[in-house]
Amino acid sequence: MSTTIAPAKGKLGILTPGIGAVSTTFMAGVEAIKKGLGEPVGSLTQLGTVRLGKRTDNRVPKIKDFVPLAGLNQLVFGGWDIFEDNAYEAAVNAQVLEPELLRKVKTGLQKVKPMKAVFDRNYVKRIDGPNVKSKGSLAEKAEMLMDDMKTFRAANGVDRLVMIWCGSTEVFHRPAKVHQTLAAFEQGLAKSDPDIAPSQVYAYAALKSGVPFANGAPNLTHDIPALLGLARDQNVPVCGKDFKTGQTYMKTLLAPGLKARMLGCSGWFSTNILGNRDGEVLEDPGSFKSKEETKLSVLDQILQPNLYPQLYKDLYHSVKINYYPPRGDQKEGWDNIDIYGWLGYPMQIKIDFLCRDSILAAPLVLDLVLFLDLAQRAGMKGVQEWLSFYFKAPMTAPGLYPEHDIFIQLMKLKNTLRWMRGEDMITHLGLEYYD
Ligand SMILES: NC(=O)c1ccc[n+]([C@@H]2O[C@H](COP(=O)([O-])OP(=O)(O)OC[C@H]3O[C@@H](n4cnc5c(N)ncnc54)[C@H](O)[C@@H]3O)[C@@H](O)[C@H]2O)c1
Repeated sequence: MSTTIAPAKGKLGILTPGIGAVSTTFMAGVEAIKKGLGEPVGSLTQLGTVRLGKRTDNRVPKIKDFVPLAGLNQLVFGGWDIFEDNAYEAAVNAQVLEPELLRKVKTGLQKVKPMKAVFDRNYVKRIDGPNVKSKGSLAEKAEMLMDDMKTFRAANGVDRLVMIWCGSTEVFHRPAKVHQTLAAFEQGLAKSDPDIAPSQVYAYAALKSGVPFANGAPNLTHDIPALLGLARDQNVPVCGKDFKTGQTYMKTLLAPGLKARMLGCSGWFSTNILGNRDGEVLEDPGSFKSKEETKLSVLDQILQPNLYPQLYKDLYHSVKINYYPPRGDQKEGWDNIDIYGWLGYPMQIKIDFLCRDSILAAPLVLDLVLFLDLAQRAGMKGVQEWLSFYFKAPMTAPGLYPEHDIFIQLMKLKNTLRWMRGEDMITHLGLEYYD
């Protein structure tokens, strides 16, 4: 049985709270690809394929030909930021892409002028800017965001919207009473409850407007009962949290491999130097705590020390990020991994990943917005666990542990696409080939 999927007709508006390094690299990249100036490397929706039927059937369409995704020419960008720079100026400041390339896509990027942000310095301590909604309660600010969306929709002739948080990492906070029910949350908005973070006001405004929402940062945001309930009530798909790009991506490649061969691990020391604005924000211990939580959770979930105490019970895991301006967006991440084999004999693995943070993140933004839009047109609502593939801390149904192994995540993603189109799931059992 296949699900009914509405066609991807008309324009799809992509709204990003935060017009910084990641979001402008994404927008500039899409404009460049449309002009034939580059390839969408790193994007599963643009380059990936999905095998259908038996291995002998030779049916391997591109994902974008198999499910009806919006095309790059149908995308329109907008967003909010505390700074007034348009997306071209913000991209120049971010220093991720070459000035020459940016000049070629300048016209498109200049049109993206940030709307006034909902901001609170208690949640992001290291930066401040003038382009903010200064008056009104949080409830009134949520209304203003909903009006911004309506205005954007009308001004750009957009049929559907998706919102993806590409704003700075907010300080760590646990769910409070105000986050438990929609009624408590709405009362909290009216009273401007300090436990409600700006990113939660954006998420609320999106869900109330029927707009799918993704969270690229580790903040709590919509991972609370009040907003997850709202997403289901409004039939809106959501996903998060924290793009899985550099060091954690490497971890989710390597750790399943160690476990697959029953090799032990006594220590995993990870450190990074990073010099962009994200690195500056993460200098604040509160923002770093949000990041640390998502980065640390991965190994425990993959290695399952409760099931394999001889291998992982005493694992020492540490993650550090150091702000180091000379490197800008070109992060360097080191991992020292102490492993052991047969009879406990020790070995070491070293990784030195000289990566580019936003170059890794931009294709994830593209895939997420296209897949969330697809999910909405397919009538899927609430947490989209099949998009775990993209996140460091995948959101799940309550009581369910997240699946971090990237290959299981990819299988789940592709099986979900097969399920949407009424194709057989692929289990990799393959006994039929030997009958
Ligand atoms: N690049 C990666 O590989 C990667 C990986 C995982 C997560 N992330 C997360 O993605 C987010 C964006 O990263 P980036 O490198 O683009 O950071 P950035 O600092 O370049 O951009 C973030 C932008 O958000 C704006 N902002 C902050 N609070 C806001 C608010 N309340 N409303 C509107 N705008 C707001 C800031 O002014 C800034 O321009 C960060 O939270 C980062 O931790 C990035």
